[in-house]
Amino acid sequence: MRSPSDSSQPSRQVFAITGKGGVGKTTFTAILAKILSAEGVNLLAVDADPPVSLTYALGAQPVKTVGDMRSRLIEDPAEKKKFDEKHTRDVVKEEVLIDLKGMGLLVLGRAEGPGCYCGLNQLLKFGIESLTEQYEITLIDCEAGIEQINRRVIDSISRLVMISDATLKGLQTAAYLRDIASKHGVAGPYETGLVINRAGEGVEALMQKAHEMGLHVLGVVPPDPNVAEYDRVGKPTIGLPDDSPSVLAVREILKGLRRAD
Ligand SMILES: Nc1ncnc2c1ncn2[C@@H]1O[C@H](COP(=O)(O)OP(=O)(O)OP(=O)(O)O)[C@@H](O)[C@H]1O
Ligand SMILES: [Mg+2]
Repeated sequence: MRSPSDSSQPSRQVFAITGKGGVGKTTFTAILAKILSAEGVNLLAVDADPPVSLTYALGAQPVKTVGDMRSRLIEDPAEKKKFDEKHTRDVVKEEVLIDLKGMGLLVLGRAEGPGCYCGLNQLLKFGIESLTEQYEITLIDCEAGIEQINRRVIDSISRLVMISDATLKGLQTAAYLRDIASKHGVAGPYETGLVINRAGEGVEALMQKAHEMGLHVLGVVPPDPNVAEYDRVGKPTIGLPDDSPSVLAVREILKGLRRAD
């Protein structure tokens, strides 16, 4: 649902990055953020994985999280009152949005605590959803696996990007994620795309396999020694050199991602 203030963002796109554990979701998301923010795109990054790796990959700190706000809302009625008085989006924006030199960063933080806060979660989801309407592109770095696909952060995902490692097993997992996503109405078959990460020799055969499995291959990212080195010493991925092999590859993939809409 769009509000009148959204008319300035007619081509809003939401890319959710998913895949099994350790395949390179956060790295890919951070590189996308690097490229898009350098282009001056009005960008929102959502760190939806509790260990908040994307936050660090973007060179930020998880100083404010949606999870913390949820706890405050549960414990303090005065906090809850804010929601009754203002648009949920504005509360989320004022309370938890981090400004990274123009790029918005929303850190979800830890998932629900004990008890059922379904109503509150729905409210927060609505707040996050309407916040994305104020951005040209939103990137969501998802938790590994299918949980977040079922219980998604927001409903209006324009593209589900599945990251796989360069193995047949990885492709099978991607096909499984694609099927779950289609079943739950997140994205139809034309709205999912596969990125094969850390792919070297033999990738052509894997791409052929992916094709046979009905997976739309958006592109391939080579093993990049800079990525490994940055992570080894704790340097934010967003600071990778522009001519790093992974950055060059993601730039090409981005062209296809944008074209797809
Ligand atoms: N193209 C690449 N070249 C070299 N190393 C890479 C590449 N992509 C990712 N890595 C390395 O692989 C590891 C996992 O990457 P990353 O954290 O991005 O995966 P993830 O899917 O987000 O993991 P998690 O499921 O834990 O969130 C990291 O150590 C990262 O440095
Ligand atoms: Mg990650």
